[in-house]
Amino acid sequence: MDEAAKIEEFENRIASGEKIEPKDWMPEKYRKQLVRMMSQHAHSEVVGMLPEGNWITRAPSLRRKMALLAKVQDEAGHGLYIYCGAETLGLASRQELVGELLAGTAKYSNIFNYPTLSWADIGVIGWLVDGAAIVNQTALAKCSYGPYSRAMIRICKEENFHKKQGFEICVTLSRGTEKQKAMLQDAVDRWWPKTLMMFGPHDSDSPHSGALLKWGVKQFSNDELRQRWIDMTVPQALQMGLTLPDPDLKYNEQTEHWEIGPINWEEFYQVINGNGPCNRERLAARNKAFDDGAWVREAALAYAEKQRSKQKEAA
Ligand SMILES: [Fe+2]
Ligand SMILES: [Fe+2]
Repeated sequence: MDEAAKIEEFENRIASGEKIEPKDWMPEKYRKQLVRMMSQHAHSEVVGMLPEGNWITRAPSLRRKMALLAKVQDEAGHGLYIYCGAETLGLASRQELVGELLAGTAKYSNIFNYPTLSWADIGVIGWLVDGAAIVNQTALAKCSYGPYSRAMIRICKEENFHKKQGFEICVTLSRGTEKQKAMLQDAVDRWWPKTLMMFGPHDSDSPHSGALLKWGVKQFSNDELRQRWIDMTVPQALQMGLTLPDPDLKYNEQTEHWEIGPINWEEFYQVINGNGPCNRERLAARNKAFDDGAWVREAALAYAEKQRSKQKEAA
């Protein structure tokens, strides 16, 4: 079969809703795009542990501490799961992908490059950021690449727990003292604009979207997903008596959608290109964790070697 016929068959399979599996033929561009997307996603999960991990020792009760600890551990699991999924595409090993993150040459979500300044940030991250992640990942669960799609189904179940634990913190604070309410409002003011950016540039400025949509890697455009999240989240904010930091925010009766003011894309590009408030700190923390874990990797390799020679002797 020539290339054109292969592509046609590939596109027909996707159009009929079939999943593409690791050993199936796929265009090199599809393979590359998926590795790019999945590795960025995995990096985001792993770096995403840092802002919240920062509050584990300061959680206000044992129950909150246990829930936060479980959530942060889940994110580590999500990262490893998606790295494994990316490996099935055969272009790069997990070590190579992690290497790119540690070297600072890989991109990951803008959102994890901001500091967590108060306990309310933990609630707001669960509510807004994990809420946004669910919208993205529920769409990815329908994507055309089998291993990625299946990983998302499982991950979304855990993300729902993350969102609920965050939302519950927010509701509690919204019914608390004036000081607690102010702390919550301050966190919402800081995280709302950044969460809007998590969905990526507007469709008109999104360089990879066309091909990703055509091959079912993406099911919806950045703007569609962003709008879905806005429509879901604004009523929740209003219910809690919060204001959102956007003077242009208004409900359009005709379209039945909430409309927002302009997003600060200059800030977004600064942050994803390494110049956010915490990028350097995040990379330093990941590198330190990797270096501190060297003895574990060495011990595991030595143990595996020992087992191998034992088996050889027995044989
Ligand atoms: Fe996650
Ligand atoms: Fe999460």
